[in-house]
Amino acid sequence: MATPIRISVEHVTKRFASGAVTVFEALDLAVRDGETLCIVGPSGCGKTTLLRCMHGLAAIDDGRIVIDGTEVRAPSRKVAMVFQHFGLMPWKRVRENVAYGLELAGLPKATVQERVAHYIEMVGLRGFETSYPNQLSGGMQQRAGLARALAVEPDILLMDEPFGSLDALTREVLQDELLRIYQLAPRTMVFITHSIEEAIAMGDRILVLSARPARVRELFQVDIPRPRTVESVIAHPRFIPLRDHCWRLLRERAA
Ligand SMILES: Nc1ncnc2c1ncn2[C@@H]1O[C@H](COP(=O)(O)OP(=O)(O)O)[C@@H](O)[C@H]1O
Ligand SMILES: [Mg+2]
Repeated sequence: MATPIRISVEHVTKRFASGAVTVFEALDLAVRDGETLCIVGPSGCGKTTLLRCMHGLAAIDDGRIVIDGTEVRAPSRKVAMVFQHFGLMPWKRVRENVAYGLELAGLPKATVQERVAHYIEMVGLRGFETSYPNQLSGGMQQRAGLARALAVEPDILLMDEPFGSLDALTREVLQDELLRIYQLAPRTMVFITHSIEEAIAMGDRILVLSARPARVRELFQVDIPRPRTVESVIAHPRFIPLRDHCWRLLRERAA
C-alpha cells in the first residue's frame, strides 16, 4: 500500500512587493506520512516563505496547499513550526514557554503539567524549568523551542533551520536528539536546512530548490537506513556520494 500524502503543494505561486518579486511559481511537492522531507536551496530562494505558506501564516497567490485533504488557510493545531531563532517569549520562563501551546489548546491543567515535564526532560532541560530564555545558552534556547513544538504533539512539524545558529557540537547533540525522538514516534516533518550534511542525517528524502524563483531542482531518496545517529550516517558508504550529488546540484545553479 502506498504511503499517504499529508502535505500537498500544488502549483503554488507566491509573490511579494505587490507582485514585483516572485518567490516561487507553480511549485509542486508532496510530503508523505511519517517522512522527514529536507529542503535545501540557496539563501533567499524562498524556503522560509514556503514553510510559512504551508503553515497558513502567509497567503499564496495561486495554486493550493492541502494538508490531510483540507486546503490550508490559517494555522492548524496539528501543525507546529520551529523557527530559526527560537521563537521563545522572553518574559516567560522555560516551563511557561513550553506550556503555552498546550494552554492555548485548552488542555486540562494536569495534562499540561505532565506534558511540559515530559518534553523538558526529553530535550535535556530538567533543572531549567524556571529559567528565563536570556539565562540560557543558544543551544538551550533551541532545546526549549523544540520542547515547545513537540509538547503539542503535532502530527506535522515544520522546522526552519532549527539548528542553524548553533555551534557544531550542540548542533550534533540536538540532531541526535531529534533522530532519537523521531525513532520513538515518527512524525511528518519538513526540515529546512542550509547544511547538506544535516539534510542527509535527518531526511528520508531531500528536495533541492533552485535560486529564486524557486523551482524543484531535484528530489531524491536518502538511502541510509534508520535508526540513525549523526555518526552512523557520516560513516555510511552512501554519505559521501549523496553529499557530492547535493553539492553538485547547488553549485551548478549558483554558476
Ligand atoms: N514579508 C516579505 N516582504 C517582501 N519580501 C519578502 C518577505 N519575506 C521574504 N521576502 C523575500 O522573499 C525571498 C525569499 O525569502 P525567504 O523565504 O526568507 O528565503 P530563504 O528562507 O530561502 O532564505 C527573498 O528575496 C526575500 O527578500
Ligand atoms: Mg529562511
